[in-house]
Amino acid sequence: MLRWKTILFFLSSLFPVFFSKNVSLYSVISPTYGVNESVRVKEEEEEACGDPTMYEKFWRQTGNAAELVIPGSQTMSYFSDVTNLCWFLEPKFAAEIRRLHRLVGNAIAGPDRYIIVGTGSSQLFQAALFALSTSPEVFGHGGGGRPLPVVSSVPYYSSYPAATDLLQSGLFRWAGDARSLKEGDKPYIEVVCSPSNPDGLLKTASVSSNSGKVIHDLAYYWPQYTAITSPADHDLMLFTASKCTGHAGMRLGWAIVKNREVAKRMMKFIEVSTIGVSKDSQLRAAKILKTVSDQYELEAAEDFTKLFHFARKTMRDRWQTLRLVIAASDAFSLPVFQPQYCNFMKENTLPFPAFAWLKCEQDIDDCESFLRQKHKILTRGGKHFGADAKHVRISMLDRVETFDMFIERLSAIDL
Ligand SMILES: Cc1ncc(COP(=O)(O)O)c(C=O)c1O
Repeated sequence: MLRWKTILFFLSSLFPVFFSKNVSLYSVISPTYGVNESVRVKEEEEEACGDPTMYEKFWRQTGNAAELVIPGSQTMSYFSDVTNLCWFLEPKFAAEIRRLHRLVGNAIAGPDRYIIVGTGSSQLFQAALFALSTSPEVFGHGGGGRPLPVVSSVPYYSSYPAATDLLQSGLFRWAGDARSLKEGDKPYIEVVCSPSNPDGLLKTASVSSNSGKVIHDLAYYWPQYTAITSPADHDLMLFTASKCTGHAGMRLGWAIVKNREVAKRMMKFIEVSTIGVSKDSQLRAAKILKTVSDQYELEAAEDFTKLFHFARKTMRDRWQTLRLVIAASDAFSLPVFQPQYCNFMKENTLPFPAFAWLKCEQDIDDCESFLRQKHKILTRGGKHFGADAKHVRISMLDRVETFDMFIERLSAIDL
């Protein structure tokens, strides 16, 4: 008996959240719309990044198709391909990235483009800032004045300011809304996220000047979220497995880069910060992307075995449900989207963004607090995205039970 008590005491000090009397199992497992103070910090972190757990159902359905066994003797070396500029990029992963982009038609990723792998596209964002702000080919030897302003149009992805200013670099500095940047000859970096996190709209660069460089964050330019209208072909594009296949925990992203010097400096950043990127993750990602592409190339494959079809249907159903609830209430509104022809799905489609950018109407000025305190719905407030407090961002990528609970609580609001 004493031994059990000791073990329980030990476990409860390691994992206090599971032993708190106030925490329901539900809010621990699925905390996005949870309510308990003791898990607040964890909740805010999870809710902040739009955990794509919706995709678990799809990968459960595929059985062992995407399984991978790595013997103890494999993936031991630091090196993946010493003949490649990005020597820590696994050739199998690179090949599957190019294959998937060719299949979907959402980006030009032929052999004349450099692929740089990163620990999530979050690391690649920092690598891109470093590369653009230090390449003499980009802004000249003086770097074009220091620190370079980094901007993005409001509402912007809330991690951009934090990631830009984390190290208080003398090379670049967060300068807020792209529209507030005075157009002139001064160098700058603009981040364009399209479709946009948080509001789902398609975006292009806001600052029209030849003296800036643009990072295109295309995390959501996949057919489950928006129409694929043409292959993107920008100088520097970022993609992530997190929002493409839902494997956020694999921590893998890739950049497609035109300029060799910029690619080399991005590579340098990753080399110095983490001496490359997990080979285990890259091999797993190669297998996952291969499974996705294979299913599309199999004539007889059913729609539910096709990732983009599964995810698009789920997103469409969720958006329809959400719009019905919003239409029945005077308290909220959502952005209005126009349909476009999707070359991949071969039909007209509305966007079904990964986040709902919800606006509190009437006299609710702080939408985040209103939803959290009165209705136990956790969201991320507009100010994190450079916008006003009447807006909040809500993840549409959570597990079905969480999404259903959110809809239930939202429907119950009666003003
Ligand atoms: C627009 C955008 N870019 C990048 C990321 C981060 O991706 P990763 O998980 O690859 O670091 C996210 C995650 O939410 C995102 O929304």
